[in-house]
Amino acid sequence: MSDEIGLIGLGRMGRNLAANLIERGIVVRAWDKSTDALAKAQAINPDLLLYGDIRELARALTPPRCVMLVVPAGNAVEKCLAALADVLEMGDVIIDSGNSHYGDTERRQNDLSDKGLHFLGLGVSGGLDGARHGPSLMAGGPEAAWQRAGSILETISARIGDEPCAGYLGGGGAGHFVKVVHNGIEYAIMQILADVFDLLSQGCGMAGEDIAETFDALNSGATASFLVEASMRVVTIPDESGTGLLIDTIDDRAEQKGTGRWAVETAFDFGIAVPTIAAAVQFRTLSEDRGRQKAKDGPAGGGASRSLVPDDVTPLLMSAVACAMASAFQQGFALFDAVADHFGSALDKRRIASLWRSGCILRGGMVDLIEESQDGEGLRPLVADGQEALRSLSLAALSIGLPAPGLSTTLGYVDALRRSPLSTRFIQMQRDYFGGHGFHRIGQDGLVHGPWHEEDET
Ligand code: 6PG
Repeated sequence: MSDEIGLIGLGRMGRNLAANLIERGIVVRAWDKSTDALAKAQAINPDLLLYGDIRELARALTPPRCVMLVVPAGNAVEKCLAALADVLEMGDVIIDSGNSHYGDTERRQNDLSDKGLHFLGLGVSGGLDGARHGPSLMAGGPEAAWQRAGSILETISARIGDEPCAGYLGGGGAGHFVKVVHNGIEYAIMQILADVFDLLSQGCGMAGEDIAETFDALNSGATASFLVEASMRVVTIPDESGTGLLIDTIDDRAEQKGTGRWAVETAFDFGIAVPTIAAAVQFRTLSEDRGRQKAKDGPAGGGASRSLVPDDVTPLLMSAVACAMASAFQQGFALFDAVADHFGSALDKRRIASLWRSGCILRGGMVDLIEESQDGEGLRPLVADGQEALRSLSLAALSIGLPAPGLSTTLGYVDALRRSPLSTRFIQMQRDYFGGHGFHRIGQDGLVHGPWHEEDET
């Protein structure tokens, strides 16, 4: 008997996942609150079995049922879970395939386990194309849920040879946690590549075709990746008006759904520095913020203050971008060690990288290097060897007034890791001066105070 799954949510992701499941021989019984979405899904997938409501859908599934939610994170998930909790039975499995916060997933797991339901938090990467032809899938939650749903998820995922890029990463919200970190790294690398575009375009005055050629050159070795390839493709797309390029018509206010911010908040919670991710999130926010300001005050002054020549910039790109990308991965991956207390053990970095090798937005040379080396050490030489190129590239951008937050923030981070002492010893002195907080002397235990105020002496 072929396996079956219930699918709730037939938006673009849901429709594509349904088509993928059906193509792999899985019976898909589905429901969506919108009749439009139902009609569209049926037209695209005639083998899709549709139901009038959640109760009807649950009745049609054979226990132990497996129901996947493909609805936006937040309220929509809450509503579906409330409805499902009324109609599902002990031992049934619910999968949340949205970009949910891992804390929400853990709360929901607890609530649903009281009813004997198993709730799997599933990170899904690869966008619409991945959903249709093979995404990367990161699962976390009760093992019983993975035992029921794992084979279906492995069947529809991307593959490297025979190996599925779908896997169980641990209990609780491990799957959604890993997806949030994935998205944080995604934000960082997108900003690094956006900085490169800005340097080539506004800094060097290069045309679309030449920029695409440069991204094409970057799409080799360690920097070869889906995101570099995507950058190469989008940069030459013409505008539909027939004159000029699409990029030149796009409003520069970047939007965000919140996963990048969650990655940064999580890093704060666990005491890990992720400055490139934070800079990428903040730069999107700044672009919105500045957009509002511009609407009030009228357009600000133009682009770069003077121009660079491509020959000063392009020879630096390969190793500078490798350094910045590798550092962004290292920042994100540090979180997988930091959460050992929360998840019972550190999350397995090589295993995570193995799930990201195909289907996912971050796939490419960096992920392969992490998967092939112990503890991501394969990235270390890229950071060390590219640091000076990254400095020159960042300086080139800054010297003509381009902010380049992805490149310049990463440089600051890499410098900070290598430099000693840091300026923070001065911070220690300042906070003791006005707050009496104390400081540690090098190599000595215990807090001491400086001789700041005469009255302190008496
Ligand atoms: C993926 C992506 C995908 C999406 C995010 C980010 O792995 O397929 O991460 O989940 O791009 O929703 O979206 P924002 O840029 O809007 O935050």
